[in-house]
Amino acid sequence: MSVQTLLLGQTFVARGNPLETPWQDAVSVNTSGAVLIDGAQISAVGDASVLRAAHPKAKIVDYGMHLICPGFVDAHVHYPQTAMIASWGKQLIDWLNTYTFPEEMRLEDPVYAKSIASRYLDLALDHGTTTMCSFATIHPTSVDEFFTQASTRDMRVVAGKTCMDRNAPDGLRDTAQTAYDDSKTLLDRWHGTGRAHYAITPRFAPTSTPEQLDALGALWHAHPDCLMQTHISEQLPEIDWVRNLYPDARDYLDTYETHGLLGARAVFGHAIHLEPREIDRIAETGAALVHCPTSNTFIGSGLMDLAGLATRRIPLGLATDTGGGSSFSMLRTMAAAYEIAQLRGTALHPAQLLWLATAGSARSLHLQDHIGTLRAGSDADLAILDLESTPAITQRAREANTVWEAIFPTVMMGDDRAIADVWIAGRKRACKEPVTP
Ligand code: GUN
Ligand code: ZN
Repeated sequence: MSVQTLLLGQTFVARGNPLETPWQDAVSVNTSGAVLIDGAQISAVGDASVLRAAHPKAKIVDYGMHLICPGFVDAHVHYPQTAMIASWGKQLIDWLNTYTFPEEMRLEDPVYAKSIASRYLDLALDHGTTTMCSFATIHPTSVDEFFTQASTRDMRVVAGKTCMDRNAPDGLRDTAQTAYDDSKTLLDRWHGTGRAHYAITPRFAPTSTPEQLDALGALWHAHPDCLMQTHISEQLPEIDWVRNLYPDARDYLDTYETHGLLGARAVFGHAIHLEPREIDRIAETGAALVHCPTSNTFIGSGLMDLAGLATRRIPLGLATDTGGGSSFSMLRTMAAAYEIAQLRGTALHPAQLLWLATAGSARSLHLQDHIGTLRAGSDADLAILDLESTPAITQRAREANTVWEAIFPTVMMGDDRAIADVWIAGRKRACKEPVTP
């Protein structure tokens, strides 16, 4: 029998979707809660007193007033952009050409790709993120290095080779055929290996020819249990560009649908400027949309209508969009989601924000049976939040009259200092290693 560990603290428990039902019915905090870990999984969640009595031999880890959360799930990142995060002064298309593509070129070198994958994953864990869905670069080696580094950390991750066969510089283009062949080889190698999941990954309609989108649509059709990730409707000049490149398409979404790239396992990043027809079609097909709020303000993209999209019961995830996003922190990302919703007239509750960063993102990636909620049978991937991690947060939290008031300062002002511990597959991460470049 494996050793059982009982974590004591305040527990964040989700039973439903707090964007679709009143948050009070969907999510709660047990102020004297406990999580029982058995091997790599959670085997029980409940009251500390009950679980202590039922499991007297379990090793106790007492987190006091810390908040025990599922590990954060970042539903859209570009790990190769780690070293160029916070690049100044450009909007999407110029930002890609000036900063992103030159940096992605460097990952042709497997030694560099390995060092960036390793650096990114350590930063993500420092920030309490235990799973992410990442774009790699066009280089197959960038996918191998990412999955290899994730597996040495025992992390559940999703990733795919980014495919581009036009409108990208020399050295950063594949073809319809090589995109198909390389993606298939990588998918066969990694999908379902350990905790790895493969996502077929056309970067976005402007950097693929219709032939490449067709090829990737065919690949997805042959491997329907994979996700398909891409971008949609991030900036207005991008949408104009798509209109010019695909004159027969009804809209941006149609460029994907026509080529077999729309379905329940599709995950679209950004989705800021969608037309009504696109929203209807996304709702009908069950495809997921991922909100990238720090990126959407940093690159100047716009204010996604998260609350409006939630009323259509569209699966919604939350993401940093590293390195278009300006942070590795899902706490900072929740704060930006709150601020953007305020600008659109909705005050998202901390229960909704924490749910988006955990269960919501997990559901958008079809990983809700494994991660994203504290419940028996889920993987024991956890983030332990110190709700008094800085003097500024502490002085506010101590004025709180409710548990949510005590949590909200950490959501709005917290960062990696709020992450007291991270558990991955039932094991506590050894220590918070400072990342050395
Ligand atoms: N659209 C196409 N590629 C990218 C990217 O790397 N980042 C962002 N934010 N948008 C994109
Ligand atoms: Zn992106």
